[in-house]
Amino acid sequence: MQIIYPSDYFSPGKADETFELEFNCAKNNGLTCLLLSSEHAAMGKYQFSQSFEPGVPVIWRGWMLSTDEYQQLHRAVARCGGQMLESFDDYIRCHYISGWYDICQKYTPETVLVSAEADFDKLTDQLKWPRYFVKDYVKSLTTSRGSVAANADEIREVLQSIEHFRGKIEGGVSLRRFEHFVAESERRYFSLNGQVYSADGVIPDVVIEIAQLVDAPFFSIDMVENDVGQLRLVEIGDGQVSDIKEWPVERFVRMFIAS
Ligand SMILES: Nc1ncnc2c1ncn2[C@@H]1O[C@H](COP(=O)(O)OP(=O)(O)OP(=O)(O)O)[C@@H](O)[C@H]1O
Ligand SMILES: [Mg+2]
Repeated sequence: MQIIYPSDYFSPGKADETFELEFNCAKNNGLTCLLLSSEHAAMGKYQFSQSFEPGVPVIWRGWMLSTDEYQQLHRAVARCGGQMLESFDDYIRCHYISGWYDICQKYTPETVLVSAEADFDKLTDQLKWPRYFVKDYVKSLTTSRGSVAANADEIREVLQSIEHFRGKIEGGVSLRRFEHFVAESERRYFSLNGQVYSADGVIPDVVIEIAQLVDAPFFSIDMVENDVGQLRLVEIGDGQVSDIKEWPVERFVRMFIAS
């Protein structure tokens, strides 16, 4: 595996501090790590800190990328003689809820996907859910207001805040039926090249079952316990832009060596 990390804005020879620990750990474990300036990439200049080794798959480990940004990165890597592990379709299949929801439906809160211009009064009249967990296709509202809405007005309020803080609604809107989860019970798993990994070595059967449904080489699977003791899928995410959460960094990096 060869891994591209975002470089630090002020010291382009270093990884951005958010990813510095992982970058150093990956390098120390013998993985080829390259740097890319996100600021330059935003202007269409893709300059990698070193050349790619032919035939060794490339992944990005950094900020979430928009669909355009992933496509541009994919093309730039190919132009420089590398090959991304994840195609553009793989990225969207995991990064957007619209890519994984249908196949994972029975494991995850019921969800309707609509446009930001949908008639939320009409929709809530039809759905009549007691509460809605409101996201775009990628993320919830992470300010203290949170993403839970009781009615159409509150749904619009959450969406306005997402737009305000993140600049846009990405992909579309997802309204998820609110479920009761046990606090602190969420765990993140990664599937890499068909193998599932966990932070503590424990992998519930249902996680393997879900992993087998998702057709992509590298993704995260977030599971949480509900108030009747079932494991529920919170979301699938693209592995390249997923935080390591509760994982010790060394254990996360070793996954790339094992695969
Ligand atoms: N349908 C739901 N009902 C109740 N709580 C939910 C629901 N969906 C998500 N949550 C809670 O909100 C948290 C954040 O949701 P989610 O992971 O979907 O959003 P996110 O923006 O990707 O957040 P993060 O970056 O923390 O992963 C979850 O960890 C879970 O505790
Ligand atoms: Mg999440």
